Amino acid sequence: MLITIPDVLDTATLTHCRNRLASAEWVDGNVTSGHQSARAKRNRQLPEDSAAAREVGGIILQALSANTRFIAAALPQHVFPPLFNGYGIGERFGTHIDNAVRQHAASGTRIRTDLSATLFFADPGSYDGGELVVEDTFGSHSVKLPAGHLVLYPSSSRHHVTEVTRGERVASFFWIQSMVRDDGQRQLLWDLDQAIQQVSVDRPDAPSVVQLTGVYHNLLRRWADV
Ligand code: NI
Repeated sequence: MLITIPDVLDTATLTHCRNRLASAEWVDGNVTSGHQSARAKRNRQLPEDSAAAREVGGIILQALSANTRFIAAALPQHVFPPLFNGYGIGERFGTHIDNAVRQHAASGTRIRTDLSATLFFADPGSYDGGELVVEDTFGSHSVKLPAGHLVLYPSSSRHHVTEVTRGERVASFFWIQSMVRDDGQRQLLWDLDQAIQQVSVDRPDAPSVVQLTGVYHNLLRRWADV
């Protein structure tokens, strides 16, 4: 399941973050790789303890903590401090699966990666290639979103970033440990949540809204680890 979260950052915040990232010092991307991905990865990254990464990462986490669509989709327990990568011409990231557990060196935070997130910082028209391609049981999905938009996908899925052939793709990437670790259960809760939202718009006084909301919370109570 891929879920898009539009407009995580507003225009002014996005501009501020882009300027901060543009003036930061980038290093070879393999510093955060496991063995498997070190061979596949060719890109640049901000050191995770750099001032720019911490500042912009904090802005992202703040924005996500108030984003109801993100919260409903991810049911976040822990969010890894956001990392940042840049792909110039000829750079790409071959097919891989993200490590199951990630430890953030600076904070010591350790999480199980249930969901992977990519937040796009470059306008799609400013670069060619650089699509995030995620494989699931229904085939391959190619993702290239407007700046400020985010995509969530299961960390268990194989994925890659295609080679950039023009311009530069700048993005933030991070992981979420969900209160509901099972993708199928989380998907059901998301579908139910979306249906309840729609019914409460279509028929705000319908008693079934209360009943369905009760079902949602009773399923969450059954499945959540907090
Ligand atoms: Ni990955």
